[in-house]
Amino acid sequence: MPDESDPTGWQAFASEFIRFIDEGDPSRTMLLDEVMLEECGGVCGKLVLDVGAGEGRFSRMLARRGARTIALDLLWPMVRAARHRSSGRGAVVRSPATALPIASSIVDIVVSYVVWVDVPDFRTAIAEAARVLKPGGQLVAANLGFITASPGWKRSPDGCRLYKPIDQYVDERPITLNWRGHEVVNWHRPLSAYMHAYLSANLILRRFLEPVPPDDTLRNNPRFEDWYRIPEFTLMRWQKP
Ligand SMILES: C[S@@+](CC[C@H](N)C(=O)[O-])C[C@H]1O[C@@H](n2cnc3c(N)ncnc32)[C@H](O)[C@@H]1O
Repeated sequence: MPDESDPTGWQAFASEFIRFIDEGDPSRTMLLDEVMLEECGGVCGKLVLDVGAGEGRFSRMLARRGARTIALDLLWPMVRAARHRSSGRGAVVRSPATALPIASSIVDIVVSYVVWVDVPDFRTAIAEAARVLKPGGQLVAANLGFITASPGWKRSPDGCRLYKPIDQYVDERPITLNWRGHEVVNWHRPLSAYMHAYLSANLILRRFLEPVPPDDTLRNNPRFEDWYRIPEFTLMRWQKP
């Protein structure tokens, strides 16, 4: 298969990713879902395109709220799982985000839920999302933030987290990681590269968040410490004029 069909090594570990989602990833279930739904707003009757939908979890959440959904993903294992799990509700399409098989100006909301970090040509993907949106339509995108330029926590001799070093922040580059035993590539880009891509697509920024938990209940749990100290994600809502 050409590289474009598997730019990040996802094919090899799609089933591991689906298992990870099925275990209930807390970053999604406890941090991002609520704000993503809030930024999507009332979706009943709206046409929503979920780009890089994976096995379709967020598309199903939107469909349950009455949206007409198109879950789109590059990889067949994701598309097959999304189709199987959709129970026929909503469309599921295999396509790259960089060449959407969708007419211009027909979609109410495009969702990109932690996807750009996996897409080498994210500028074209953002331009494509903007193309398919109706005038007034919204692009709601969560993505990994500047932590992609960090190798992780610096720790004290007794193992306490001190700080996260960051280097080569301005250099766009692929970073190969070992995730649950699989090699994956995450693309690091400075925030300015993303902002420039959205602005070049003529979108207007309506909301910009670095989500933190709404309360302090998890603050003392080491598993969730990062959320309070250093935001892992950005979440933006852009509108087509
Ligand atoms: C981190 S997963 C997120 C999946 C889903 N949005 C979620 O939050 O569960 C990224 C997804 O983007 C898909 N993907 C990667 N590159 C893509 C591309 N160029 N076009 C469309 N989908 C792509 C992957 O196959 C994967 O399902």
